Amino acid sequence: MKNMFSWYITIFKLVGKSKQAYQTNQSSFMAEFAHAKWRKLTNFTLSLPCIFLSGFLTVLLLFWAFFGSNQIFLGSCKCNQSEPAFDLQFDPPVTTFYDDPSFGYTIDKPIRNWDEKRKTWLNLHPSFEPKSHDRVFIVTGSRSTPCKSPTGDHYLLRFFRNKVDYCRLHGYDMFYNNVLLDPSMPACWAKIATVRAAMVAHPEAEWIWWLDEDAIFTDMEYKIPFHKYKDFNFVVHGWPKLVYEKKRWLGLNAGSFLIRNCQWSLDFLDSWADMGPRSQNYEKWARVLLDVFKYESNDQIALAYLFLKDHEESLEKKMFMENGYYLEGYWVTIVDTLQNVSERYLEFETRNGMLRRRHAEMVSERYGVLREALLKDAGNEFGTWRRPFVTHFAGCQPCNGEHNPLFTGKGCMDAMNKALNFADNQVLRNYGFVHRNLSDSSVVSPLPFDYPAL
Ligand SMILES: *[C@@H]1O[C@H](CO)[C@@H](O)[C@H](O)[C@H]1NC(C)=O
Ligand SMILES: *[C@@H]1O[C@H](CO)[C@@H](O)[C@H](O)[C@H]1NC(C)=O
Ligand SMILES: *[C@@H]1O[C@H](CO)[C@@H](O)[C@H](O)[C@H]1NC(C)=O
Repeated sequence: MKNMFSWYITIFKLVGKSKQAYQTNQSSFMAEFAHAKWRKLTNFTLSLPCIFLSGFLTVLLLFWAFFGSNQIFLGSCKCNQSEPAFDLQFDPPVTTFYDDPSFGYTIDKPIRNWDEKRKTWLNLHPSFEPKSHDRVFIVTGSRSTPCKSPTGDHYLLRFFRNKVDYCRLHGYDMFYNNVLLDPSMPACWAKIATVRAAMVAHPEAEWIWWLDEDAIFTDMEYKIPFHKYKDFNFVVHGWPKLVYEKKRWLGLNAGSFLIRNCQWSLDFLDSWADMGPRSQNYEKWARVLLDVFKYESNDQIALAYLFLKDHEESLEKKMFMENGYYLEGYWVTIVDTLQNVSERYLEFETRNGMLRRRHAEMVSERYGVLREALLKDAGNEFGTWRRPFVTHFAGCQPCNGEHNPLFTGKGCMDAMNKALNFADNQVLRNYGFVHRNLSDSSVVSPLPFDYPAL
C-alpha cells in the first residue's frame, strides 16, 4: 500500500508538471481527473482488477504527460493565458509540517528546515507553484477593541478599504489581524507574532509585506520591484547613513516592510522578538539599545539594531534599506505635494489618449505599465512629481486620537482625507467618478467621456 501511495504521488506530480508545462483548456480537465483519482485512493483495495486498472491508467497518464503536452494539444495552446487559478479544494493526504504535533505558529516553537518544508508543500500543491518566487501576501491589522477617538474606526475602515483596493487591482491576498496573538508582545511588537503566523499559514507566498494600519497606498499602480531584492530577505524604507553612521533609529521605519518567507526570516523574527517584552533578555537589550541609539526600547529601535549588526557583522548581508521609492513615506513630506502631482498626471493624460481610455477595473495594471514609460523623468521618493507609493500617518494615531504634540488633530485629519481621496480618485476613475476637491470626502462628480482632454 505504501508503495502504491508513493507511486500515485509520482503520477500526481507528473500530471501537475505537465499541467504547468502547457496551459490549455485541457488543464482544468486534467486537474479534475487527477483530483478524482486521488479521492478514490482512500477506498482502494489491493484487488487484481484494481492493479490492472491502475497500471493501465498509469501508462495512459505517462503517455499524456510526455507526449500530450507537446503534440496532441499544441494546436489549442493559448500561450498567453494567465496562470491557472489556485486549486483551492486540493490538499493531498500526504504528511506535511502541518501534521507534525510539535510544529506551532507561536514564537516559542522553533521551526527548522523551513525552506525545505515550504518547497515540499509547493510540490504537493502545484497549482500554487507558478509565480511562487515573488508572490506577496499583505499582512496588516489593528487592535481588538473599538477606537477611543470618535473618528478612529471611520479612518481605520477607510485605511483598510484602501488596502483592499490595491490588493484587488493587483491580485494580492491580504490578512487583516485584529487580535493580539502573543499577549506578552503588545503594541508595535505585536506585528512580529502576526508576521510569523502568516509566514507559516501561507507557504505559497515568497514575501510577507507588513503594513501598519495607518499606512495607505497613494499610488495604486506602482508595484514593488522584487527583482531588486533577489539577494535580500528583509527590506524596509530607510537611509543607511542615518542608521549605520549617525545611529538614528528614525532613519528607518518599521511601518512597512518586506520579509521573505524562509528559514533566515524565522530566525530573524526570533532575534527580533528576543529584544522584546516577552523575552527574559528584554532588560539587557533595552540597555544595549539605549546605549547605541540613545532612546528607550521599542520594536523599531530593535530593528535598527538588527540592521546595524547585519551591516557590521554578517558576511552575506540580507537586509536592505530602500530609499528609491516610498516603500514607506512620512505623510508630512508628502501630503502638500499631492495637489501638484494630480495636476502633473492630468497634464500628461491630456496629451496621451491611451491613458484616458476607459477600461474594466481588472485590467488596470496594463495602464500602469503604459504610464510607467512616461514617468521616467519624474524621479521617485523625495522631490518627485510621481505619486508617492505608500503614505504613512506616523504620529497621527487616528485610532486613539493621541497624536504627537507636533501636530494638531485637525492637521492630521485634513492630511488623511486628502491622501485617502487622492488614492480613491485612482480607484473611482474606473467606476466613472472623481473627487474634484481632495478635501471633500463625501462629494464626487461623474467623469465626462475622454476626461481630461478638452
Ligand atoms: C502574447 O503576448 C505577447 C507578449 O506579451 C504579445 O506580443 C502577443 O501579441 C500576444 N499574443 C496574443 C495572441 O495575444
Ligand atoms: C506646486 O507647483 C507650483 C507651481 O509649479 C509651485 O510653485 C509650488 O511650490 C508647488 N507646491 C509644492 C508643495 O510642491
Ligand atoms: C473643498 O472642500 C472643503 C471641505 O468640504 C471645503 O472647506 C473647501 O472650501 C472646498 N474647496 C473648494 C475649492 O471648493
